[in-house]
Amino acid sequence: MAIPLRVDFLVMGAGVAGLRAAVELARHGEVLVVTKESLGESNTHYAQGGIAVATEGASDVRLHLEDTVNAGDGLVYRPAAEVLVREGPERVAELMEWGAAFDREGGRLLRTREGAHSLARILHANGDATGAEISRSLVAFARGQKRIQFAEWTMVAGLVVVDGRVAGADLAGAGPLATDPGPHRVGARSVLIASGGAGQVYSDTTNPAVATGDGIALALDAGAALADMEFYQFHPTALALAGAPRFLISEALRGEGAYLRNDRGERFMERYHPLLELAPRDVVARAIAREGMGARSGEGKAGETGTSEARPVLLDLRHVRNIDLHRRFPGISAFLGEYGLDLERDPIPIGPAAHYLMGGIRTDLDGRTTLPGLYAAGEAACTGVHGANRLASNSLLEGLVFGARAALAMLNDGLPLLPGAGPAAALRPMAKEDDSLADIFIHHLQKAMWVNAGLLRHESTLREGLVAQAECEANLERFVEQGKTSRSLLEGRALSRVAQAILHSALARAESRGAHFRNDYPQRDDRNFLRHSVVGSGVGDESITFEGW
Ligand code: SIN
Repeated sequence: MAIPLRVDFLVMGAGVAGLRAAVELARHGEVLVVTKESLGESNTHYAQGGIAVATEGASDVRLHLEDTVNAGDGLVYRPAAEVLVREGPERVAELMEWGAAFDREGGRLLRTREGAHSLARILHANGDATGAEISRSLVAFARGQKRIQFAEWTMVAGLVVVDGRVAGADLAGAGPLATDPGPHRVGARSVLIASGGAGQVYSDTTNPAVATGDGIALALDAGAALADMEFYQFHPTALALAGAPRFLISEALRGEGAYLRNDRGERFMERYHPLLELAPRDVVARAIAREGMGARSGEGKAGETGTSEARPVLLDLRHVRNIDLHRRFPGISAFLGEYGLDLERDPIPIGPAAHYLMGGIRTDLDGRTTLPGLYAAGEAACTGVHGANRLASNSLLEGLVFGARAALAMLNDGLPLLPGAGPAAALRPMAKEDDSLADIFIHHLQKAMWVNAGLLRHESTLREGLVAQAECEANLERFVEQGKTSRSLLEGRALSRVAQAILHSALARAESRGAHFRNDYPQRDDRNFLRHSVVGSGVGDESITFEGW
């Protein structure tokens, strides 16, 4: 397929938010979905536990709202959470009509519980493969829409801004399987960024390699504001085994009764929260990090974030007898089996890993960013719906609800095509090979972010992080000045921009709240910080402001 010179709507990202939006947009115009690898490779695909949704009427919806607000540690933008829980049931019902099959028993949908949920409201598919099922069904449905074209293995290298409005994007093939290697300038009436999060900014992450924050960095560079970038959620239970990837061990295992134990075999969560293993995710992650450091109490040291080198913390299901663990969690069982571990027999070594960005491109409730013509939805966006800590299994729902809303806003706003958007004068083709030297600089940044801007932060560690980030950026810029373009270079620059925004926002928030914990400011400070941080373009200490929404 040749990439068209102009379309009505360009969607960056093919996870749940991007595909849900594309389906809506295709009812009224030509849509181009651009995705960095093959269709279906996204953070959505790897989501395990499920999708939270209140299907039992008004009181159920109210309870889901309260759980979402409480988990967010004072910073949830309530109107966004109301939209999420109220519109969620319809969006999920529609998804089922389009072919998504959630687990059932005797025709009745099965529901599980996860941390900080007051009841079991989480739907799941194929046990622990909910994201894969949602992705499969949306990809199949979107492929059936005549007005959606897909550019696979293609990167957005830049947004085209004409007269202060986003009017298209520059695209380049990101691998040998690229739909059309290009480069191309594509004009569009409006552009949606739904490219997901940036877990790869940290060396320890549950996210796939594609999660490099590309869309967030592009939006910032084009002049859109970011918000709440200091709030990176660390999932408490990623596999922590030397030589193994930080594979996600779903929170649903704790929902089914798993215990957390330290290296002395003690269940330790009672020292941290009355909800024990089902406490909010930020609380559990920090508790594990501290136990992993041997900190039986107290705050632990910033710069030590609970990696596989720390003392083992174990997830123990040996006492769980009421379900068949292998049937309930087939994907996790199979993965652990490759490392000689068995959920029924062995306590599983786990530790926190970067999982989900609560912050992102600042948007209103309809996906409008601060830059005309540019919209964002899903993990790449920040509506304030998660506040300082996302409630487990709210992210797939967020993608469905806000993906659909962003598409409706793009349709309603009815922006025209701008003539200045194409064709490009001198776009550089992407190098065929990735850049191994660029990769070395990126690894250095990822490690520095994990150590200095991970679960436990301090002004001194955040400043060390900034030194590493500046070094990485300077090294990558040297390649750019030499005229090079490669996938790793584009990804590295994006990661560096995102890291810089995280570090400055974390420095500016001189308190502890939700996923952001400062050892030098261990208390929540509502008087000064019951507000959202906003990163304007040109990141620096002075460009972070705090705003009440
Ligand atoms: C999990 O299965 O533990 C992840 C769910 C989520 O991130 O909400």
